[in-house]
Amino acid sequence: MTPFVHTGHAQRVVFGAGSLGRLEEEVDMLKARKVLVLSTAAQREQAERIGDMLGARAAGIFDGAVMHVPIETARAARDMAASLNADCAVAIGGGSTIGLGKAIALESALPILAIPTTYAGSEMTPIYGLTQDGLKRTGKDTRVMPRTVIYDPDLSAGLPAYFSLVSGINAIAHAAEGLYAFDANPITHLMAREGIAAFGRSLPAIARLSGEGGHPDLALARSDAMYGTWLCGTVLGSVSMGLHHKLCHTLGGSFKLPHAEVHTVILPHALAYNAAAAPQAMEAIASALDAGNAARAIFDLARDNGAPVALRDIGMTAGDLDRACEIAMQNQYPNPRPLDSAAIRKLLQDAYEGIRP
Ligand SMILES: NC(=O)c1ccc[n+]([C@@H]2O[C@H](COP(=O)([O-])OP(=O)(O)OC[C@H]3O[C@@H](n4cnc5c(N)ncnc54)[C@H](O)[C@@H]3O)[C@@H](O)[C@H]2O)c1
Repeated sequence: MTPFVHTGHAQRVVFGAGSLGRLEEEVDMLKARKVLVLSTAAQREQAERIGDMLGARAAGIFDGAVMHVPIETARAARDMAASLNADCAVAIGGGSTIGLGKAIALESALPILAIPTTYAGSEMTPIYGLTQDGLKRTGKDTRVMPRTVIYDPDLSAGLPAYFSLVSGINAIAHAAEGLYAFDANPITHLMAREGIAAFGRSLPAIARLSGEGGHPDLALARSDAMYGTWLCGTVLGSVSMGLHHKLCHTLGGSFKLPHAEVHTVILPHALAYNAAAAPQAMEAIASALDAGNAARAIFDLARDNGAPVALRDIGMTAGDLDRACEIAMQNQYPNPRPLDSAAIRKLLQDAYEGIRP
């Protein structure tokens, strides 16, 4: 075997349906006495449930988390944590709420306990983002990593089928780019293949059975998807991302397109762009999805299960494609196929129109 380096991050993961029941024990292990609960306004009810479970240890709820962590929101949450003398924050929600927890930890080193309810995977990474004056700045710092993650698939039961699909494909993107990352290793490969396969099994089942709340296969599929989230998020936190993540960052940041949907639309095209330069990664993705071609398999997974496949359907305008290409070309970043302006412009056009790669 060729030599390699793998950095594992110290985190405790508690996994399984009903594992939220272990919250108190987990908070005890963090020696927390005053807990600030974080959520979006839409998930206030779930935050209140956490507060009830924590009893006297619940110091307060901040329910102002929003997409891309605006600096004003981060400051308000940091101030609330400081004024309550909080010694722990519990973030229940998707990447936006967990991102807010990271913004608090970045300044205060407050321990974060994350309870993910989407499949974005942020809880497993040292990557944080903060938006100031319309610009999103990202960085890496191990201080922001949640100390404990409780993956309870029951908490994703209310995630609509549409958002489950796009969020799951967002997670697949982490693993897919992880498979051709220059700093990948056999361990991240294992996790990436297993994570993609978990989503390949679970997303069609979630799309099919979501109307049938109590179906036992739906609970199994939700559990599989959470397992995939853990794996794909860990890959994102362990190796470098390429063209796909760069394009999504550009489209989400500069053109205000919705995060998970952008990942869903771009991934098949980014994979087609890199296919000839990364044949082993493509084979691994295709085989995890039980398909013949990686890019087409992702496109079909989205299209056949009700997720968007065209940028024009998620808010992009044709007049912005040139500028998107220019921004994406501005910085160099690792990618198996060298960055070619004309080819990336074509990729964006195909994605805009929703052409099957
Ligand atoms: N730093 C990282 O490693 C990393 C990784 C992935 C994503 N992100 C960031 O995360 C953000 C996107 O996160 P996201 O896609 O999870 O969306 P989100 O956290 O913005 O959630 C979208 C909406 O769905 C609601 N929601 C979440 N779970 C729900 C559930 N189970 N039932 C009903 N509603 C629910 C939320 O309250 C919110 O209103 C972006 O800002 C992205 O940049 C960061």
